[in-house]
Amino acid sequence: MANRLTIDRTREKAQISRHIYGHFAEHLGRCVYEGIWVGEDSPIPNTRGIRNDVVAALRAIKVPLVRWPGGCFADEYHWMDGIGHRENRKEMINTHWGNLVENNHFGTHEFFDFCEQVGCEPYVAGNLGSGTLQEMSEWVEYMNFDGKSPMTQMRAANGREEPWRLRYFGIGNENWGCGGKMRAEYYADEYMRYATYCRDYPNAKLYRIAAGPRKDNYHWTKVLMENAGMYMDGLALHYYTRLEDTSMVTKLPDGNARYARNPNVKSYSATQFERKEWDIVMRESWFTEELMTRHSAIMDAYDPDKKVALIVDEWGTWFAVEPGTNPGFLYQQNTLRDALVAGMHLNIFNNHADRVRMANIAQMINVLQAIVLTDGEKMVLTPTYHVFDMFKVHQDAMLLDHNLLSDGFEVDGKTIPQVNASVSRNAEGKIHITLCNVNPENGAEVECFLDGIGAGSNLTGTVLTSDRMNAHNDFDRPEDIKPAAFTGYRTENGKLTVEMPSKSVVLLTIG
Ligand code: AHR
Repeated sequence: MANRLTIDRTREKAQISRHIYGHFAEHLGRCVYEGIWVGEDSPIPNTRGIRNDVVAALRAIKVPLVRWPGGCFADEYHWMDGIGHRENRKEMINTHWGNLVENNHFGTHEFFDFCEQVGCEPYVAGNLGSGTLQEMSEWVEYMNFDGKSPMTQMRAANGREEPWRLRYFGIGNENWGCGGKMRAEYYADEYMRYATYCRDYPNAKLYRIAAGPRKDNYHWTKVLMENAGMYMDGLALHYYTRLEDTSMVTKLPDGNARYARNPNVKSYSATQFERKEWDIVMRESWFTEELMTRHSAIMDAYDPDKKVALIVDEWGTWFAVEPGTNPGFLYQQNTLRDALVAGMHLNIFNNHADRVRMANIAQMINVLQAIVLTDGEKMVLTPTYHVFDMFKVHQDAMLLDHNLLSDGFEVDGKTIPQVNASVSRNAEGKIHITLCNVNPENGAEVECFLDGIGAGSNLTGTVLTSDRMNAHNDFDRPEDIKPAAFTGYRTENGKLTVEMPSKSVVLLTIG
């Protein structure tokens, strides 16, 4: 059967928020230290301690937003330790990630400077798990108040007169797990208490984000929406694509769940894998479609006007760390398989743009499904980076109504679509179609039906693929896999036929 994509150019369904193309940077391994921050005295070219090559790479793909400082780290971070003269900053132990000494050299001022250099929105996650309400409230005052107060005087003494006017603020992280092992009912109450004292200041209205569910914990979504939905702007889901679920889940009679790490689960390599592992990763990645649909349906029941965004705060692949690296640093390589996972997720998020208005891949640099890897002064762009580069055309564009009938791709008795897609029109009227063919052996013919398409249409294409499932870029071969011009399509009146290679991500631009 041919795959058929029917596009209705007259029907715009929603605007695709550029924040769907967001990123997550935690004080974990070499993400912040080395990946972003090298210090002013480093031989690595930097601007006020922030490395120039990374900033340029992030600007090139129009990174719209970065979430910081964690993750689990956020719920043990005390922001006052990270301000003032760097040599006087208090050290702490990063107990979640390797028990390393954190010198707090990258703090609030450095984070905002980084965002200004990248040209992106900051998203700060506050400490509800181990911090006090006063501490969180004062952080917001420090960042956002434009008047005279103890916090703003401290800010000025630290070199910043003007408030930053932060918009996106998270109230805790994974509070069902590393953020305090709370029940949904307890967290909902705590959320409201903390959110109340995170004030809106003049010209600085906060967009409050509640810690959302783990994966398919629908109870959490229901309880949060029922009790606190009217006091939040976003609910932040976390879901990682893995070969095995590494958590042991105990369901409690009241609907809550307890999570514990399963010590017996094998870790799978990011680069050394067989066809079977490719397939399972595709299946687990496609599970995101179900998560978006089912969590959105619960939210619809309490919030039919879709005021509260479903935010996919952390997503991406989670494999074994590279051999010989610190297990607490979560450093993994990134292959064509990760690129397919990225393309699939971004297509899914685009297609749910009416409810999904932010998503942050975990994590930006040197951790999990990174877009950038560094080794001292060297930097390499991963296949996932190239997908974000190709898909950036969807940022703030209008999602066009479309219907895709795809061949199936069977994985252990479960069938997922072989091809996934999303379609948008940007402000200049250009239509962009992004397509992923998850089959690592077979190509896919996709017939696209779009009114007005024909021989005279102005069409260009880009493809990311390789003859190897595990193609990846490394410091000695930085361009082993990169996007190339794509011409595998033909047009007839009203129909565009695309011949997708196996295991490929394709971008088509019309107009
Ligand atoms: O991204 C790594 C960790 O995964 C984050 O710190 C945490 O929020 C999640 O469990």
